[in-house]
Amino acid sequence: MKSLGNLIIVEIEEAVREAFSFCDSEIGKIEIDPSKELKFGDYQCSLALKLSKELKKSPRAIAEQAVETLKNQSLFEKVEIAGPGFINMTLSEDMLNRWANDCKESNDLLVPKVKREKVIVEFSSPNIAKMMHVGHLRSTIIGDAIARLMEFLGYEVLRLNHVGDFGTQFGMLISYLKKYHPEALKKDNNCDIEMLVAWYKASKKKFDQDDAFKTVAREEVVKLQSGDEGSVAAWKALCEISRKGFQEIYDILDVHIEERGESFYNPILQKVVDDFKAKGLSKKDAGAECVFMEGFKNKDGDILPLIIQKGDGGFNYATTDLAAFHYRVDEDAAKRIIVITDLGQKMHFAMVHKAASLVGYIDEKKVRFDHVPFGLVLSPDGKKYKTRSGETERLSDLLDEAVIRAKALLDERGIEDNYEIAKVLGISAVKYADLSSNRIKDYTFSYDRMLRFEGNTASFILYAYVRIQSIKRKANITLESIQKEKIKISHPSERALILHLIRFGEILHKMKEDLLPNHLTEYLFHLAEKFNIFFRDCQVTGDPNMNSRLQLSELTGQHIQKGLRILGICTINKM
Ligand code: ARG
Repeated sequence: MKSLGNLIIVEIEEAVREAFSFCDSEIGKIEIDPSKELKFGDYQCSLALKLSKELKKSPRAIAEQAVETLKNQSLFEKVEIAGPGFINMTLSEDMLNRWANDCKESNDLLVPKVKREKVIVEFSSPNIAKMMHVGHLRSTIIGDAIARLMEFLGYEVLRLNHVGDFGTQFGMLISYLKKYHPEALKKDNNCDIEMLVAWYKASKKKFDQDDAFKTVAREEVVKLQSGDEGSVAAWKALCEISRKGFQEIYDILDVHIEERGESFYNPILQKVVDDFKAKGLSKKDAGAECVFMEGFKNKDGDILPLIIQKGDGGFNYATTDLAAFHYRVDEDAAKRIIVITDLGQKMHFAMVHKAASLVGYIDEKKVRFDHVPFGLVLSPDGKKYKTRSGETERLSDLLDEAVIRAKALLDERGIEDNYEIAKVLGISAVKYADLSSNRIKDYTFSYDRMLRFEGNTASFILYAYVRIQSIKRKANITLESIQKEKIKISHPSERALILHLIRFGEILHKMKEDLLPNHLTEYLFHLAEKFNIFFRDCQVTGDPNMNSRLQLSELTGQHIQKGLRILGICTINKM
């Protein structure tokens, strides 16, 4: 084995590549899969079957030749051929022991770091004067996890909150408040987001019914956009009220994010339109300036327009996103841009991304863009999720409810003094339930399911962690005092546990590519299961192998803790 700075899976891939070098053909990416059953070894490879046609040889003959080389690798204990030509590889116990001992000495659990490049993760992005809803909650939870992953891997991460803080609706709202609630437009007012949302609705109603008000509201937009002091101050006061409401949620979730709202890009919106015009990429259609691109058609087969300037001269959502691409690549110097929104915006981002590359704001070869879509939140009855209060759902109520229910469960189990634990369990449950469902699908929000102590839930994993802490307490020796002693496999359940631990880095690197947090939840769920089996089969305190087992438990605990941290979940030491 060369260096332990590599993922084990990469080591295996390299060994396989070398073993197949006699084939003299372009092999490309080598697929190695963890075996599903013990009898197939630890990892499987089907390369011989793939090469058979090209080499005009039986898969078995090819596999046999490769196995001769693989057998000599110290990585493996056993390399066998199964079926028509699958290669089953069993890692050597020596290697697993060595990995475990190196890992316990390492700072970041032997997960290889990346080149430090700038990654923008844009998430949450609620709208001023509107309620933050369950869709924003999903974006916040998923975005925070992705940002934490990227930070852990060594990227320089810029977390951006693309708040909806601009548009004609603000003229309407400001005019309404100037007339009926001027106190709300002052600095240090006592208004909250619920009041603001109610006024927003009232102003919309008035706007739709009252022509004189409509005119005033439109004038207000012009004043705001031309930087009129009074209007801008009023707008800032509104934003501040909303911001306080959003912050309440970020505090509960322990999420940090930098606000850079839509308004930030206002100064370059005209330039965006000019750039498209100058390159002949847009044209007027029914008064609006539009970009038409191949590949984006409606149901009838007509090419859809991407509107970058409305008939009245105003800019819109797409213009702002084009400006954002421009700024993030040019000014922020981001090498990767990740935007997390609901699936409904998939087409919008595909179009904006294409348009941004046509106009030269982003070079696909140099900067990677990922739109990370997620499905709807459903209630257990299969309908779109609504909290009890319906329309004006307060996310803080939804989160509080999770904590209240967690507390009731702890009370039931006779766990006293449990409020702090309930807070962790409740919030973790909400986060974990979201992250553990494949984000692209709709997901059913159920307190009952997310708070279970069994199955793929936060509580199950947290419980395994708590158990490890209690084992350490019971052993009543410090880990420092046994640090010099080695972890050594002496039971198949220990081997299975280490075999799972070594995959941590592989899972994180996979998640960085496809941005699916459910890889990590699944990994942690299986880790907790494998730990429980180890603990069932192997006595720790009082056993001759105690010191090795204690350290293996600790190493497992560190993986659980780090993994949960990446998901934005804190651990507890007692339950
Ligand atoms: N504010 C938008 C919404 O609530 C989400 C913004 C998404 N980001 C973007 N760059 N367009 O749906």
